Amino acid sequence: MKSVTDVPNPNVDTAENPPVILTSELRKVYRTGFLLNQKLVSLSSCSLKVYQGETFGLLGPNGAGKTTLLKLLLGIIRPTSGRGLLLGKPLGDRATKAKIGYLPENPYLYDYLTGWEFLQFAAGLFKIPPRVQRQRIPELLELVGLSLGDARKKQMRRYSKGMLQRVGMAQALINEPELVFLDEPMSGLDPVGRYQMREIILRLKAAGKTIFFNSHILSEVEQICDRVGILSRGELICAGSIPELLNPKNGYFVRGQGGDWEVLQKWIPNIKFTVDGCWEGELEGDNYDFLASLRLMNANVFNMNLIRPSLEDFFIQKIQGNHQR
Ligand SMILES: Nc1ncnc2c1ncn2[C@@H]1O[C@H](COP(=O)(O)OP(=O)(O)OP(=O)(O)O)[C@@H](O)[C@H]1O
Ligand SMILES: [Mg+2]
Repeated sequence: MKSVTDVPNPNVDTAENPPVILTSELRKVYRTGFLLNQKLVSLSSCSLKVYQGETFGLLGPNGAGKTTLLKLLLGIIRPTSGRGLLLGKPLGDRATKAKIGYLPENPYLYDYLTGWEFLQFAAGLFKIPPRVQRQRIPELLELVGLSLGDARKKQMRRYSKGMLQRVGMAQALINEPELVFLDEPMSGLDPVGRYQMREIILRLKAAGKTIFFNSHILSEVEQICDRVGILSRGELICAGSIPELLNPKNGYFVRGQGGDWEVLQKWIPNIKFTVDGCWEGELEGDNYDFLASLRLMNANVFNMNLIRPSLEDFFIQKIQGNHQR
């Protein structure tokens, strides 16, 4: 059995663990205006690495450049400068496209096809033989939670937004990709739909797929992603794991009951009583000594949580900081 030290650190480049997505100073400038004489920097100089099996979430406000980065990675548009590798091959490489899946931001699905026909069509583009399709399509429908009846009998113009996202997701997985790109997979879904989409992503993650997705829904990203990056005005302003980024304050918020008020006040200067007869506040000092002192006073502690900002607070702070520059 492998010991912990044998397992490659996912954030370190080694010959066995090269990044599956690598970009170096990737830049995209669009020409806009009636005479195409204005320039719009959609992505300024993006250097990023994503490793095998990671789930990477790209966050950013509207217009930050998230879809632009995804399109560059997928080879749909060409960079103005900079370079990138996907599964070790330059962006746009044809053979690599067969190993990746993509759920676009607003998937264009054929209204007059049934979900099944659409998936057959998508499978045909990858030259998947009909015999394999007959087995894979029902498996994917089960994974994304779309009933066989809906897929077989209903044309997609009759599908709800949630059903369209599901069939879009099945399409993204039709070629059994190693690397999956999802542009706003939760967008427009109700809480149940979002929960189900999250479950699908977690199942893909458990199957070892590398997932790169764009999202506005910070709580989902916080629950699913190993690492996140924040784009603002075309600039990748930070990237890292959530504990790294949120940089917890070295302190705990504690809540308990009983004990000597004067002693408690020394440990918790901002202590206050709550309506249910408990006390709470920020602990100052060593947490082990605090717990020992509670035991001496016969007091109970119910919660002891590391103080750290939420991803939402962190996101807003970073975006506002970048906009004020
Ligand atoms: N084809 C294009 N031509 C000109 N400008 C473009 C083009 N595509 C995108 N842009 C501009 O590039 C910037 C980044 O757009 P992008 O779609 O990448 O943002 P986004 O982060 O995906 O936003 P959203 O969250 O709304 O999906 C925007 O200012 C957008 O108007
Ligand atoms: Mg977008």
